[in-house]
Amino acid sequence: MHTLTVARSVRGIEHLVAAEIRQARLGRVVEVRHREVWFEPRRPGLLGLRLADDVLLVGAVVDGIGPGRSSLRRLASAASAIDTARLTTLAAHLGPPPGAAPCATPDPGRGVDVSASFLGRRGYTRFDVEDAVGPGLGRPYHSRRDGRKPPAGTTSWRVTVEGERAVIALRAGARPLHRRPYKVRSVPGTLHPPLAAAMVHLAEPKGLVVDPCCGAGTTLIEAAAHTPGVRALGFDHASQAVAAAAANGPDLAWSVADAGRIPLPAGSVDRVLVNPPWQRQVRLAGEGHRLWRELRRVLAGDGRVVALVPEVPRGWAVQERLEISLFGRHPVLVMMSPDKS
Ligand SMILES: C[S@@+](CC[C@H](N)C(=O)[O-])C[C@H]1O[C@@H](n2cnc3c(N)ncnc32)[C@H](O)[C@@H]1O
Repeated sequence: MHTLTVARSVRGIEHLVAAEIRQARLGRVVEVRHREVWFEPRRPGLLGLRLADDVLLVGAVVDGIGPGRSSLRRLASAASAIDTARLTTLAAHLGPPPGAAPCATPDPGRGVDVSASFLGRRGYTRFDVEDAVGPGLGRPYHSRRDGRKPPAGTTSWRVTVEGERAVIALRAGARPLHRRPYKVRSVPGTLHPPLAAAMVHLAEPKGLVVDPCCGAGTTLIEAAAHTPGVRALGFDHASQAVAAAAANGPDLAWSVADAGRIPLPAGSVDRVLVNPPWQRQVRLAGEGHRLWRELRRVLAGDGRVVALVPEVPRGWAVQERLEISLFGRHPVLVMMSPDKS
């Protein structure tokens, strides 16, 4: 019997997460839905997924979870019936990619924590759900009630309730996949790593890859992880951003430069990955055309740009356009090349 697994995803890239699972031959995708991809894992490597936010092994799917507090008893008894030892062993087996350095997997001796979420009005809170299921999943149980934080290294469970259906699932890793160990420094507006990985997935890095507004370096670090040995150059006009990128990706090349005057010859760049500043930090607004004009200059004939932007700039032919929803914002992820028509 296969244990169903859920890869959680940023809204808008679910089909790319499914493609990553298929390409890595990790398992059989059974459903792609809002912010989730359900699959039957077939081999180790779950923690090697880069486009997913999180990966969870399903312990129980419980129907009939209504708004009344009696549902808490139903959830508690479903949690107690889960074979947690089997699931934890499975997570340790399926998590690390074969041949890779061991990944951080949960340590069952440190106890468990639970994080619950649901939409709509109910006669109980998320903490009631967590405290109902937690003691049945392992001991000691660390409640999150009153803002308490579980200690490091606990085994994390998630409960999601949608309509009348609840899913109780074990996080395969010791931390969510979107929390990358390389990201030791940050900048305002830094990119969510799975979204950067989705940009890389579309771009298919080759030759010289450039990010002219690199911030903390997320796009190029993801590109180097996807295509080891790729040549990557990151520029930012802020020296603090360049310092952050160098701390996060010490093996890549970073320098201070204006995105409107990229210090590279015409036609020399194969791929551009960029999320220029927008919303509150729109420093490029009004002069954004300088960036797009400069990208036309540096791009090679068959070059392409993958950008996360509020809207597609004029004068570019779009090969792929995905509407994203992240932290209340709705940018578009576009793959494009200069419109030569
Ligand atoms: C949204 S952030 C990019 C975040 C980055 N992708 C990351 O993962 O951290 C935009 C970046 O553009 C930089 N920037 C703004 N105007 C610029 C310009 N004219 N030239 C180069 N970089 C610029 C900012 O300093 C900021 O780091």
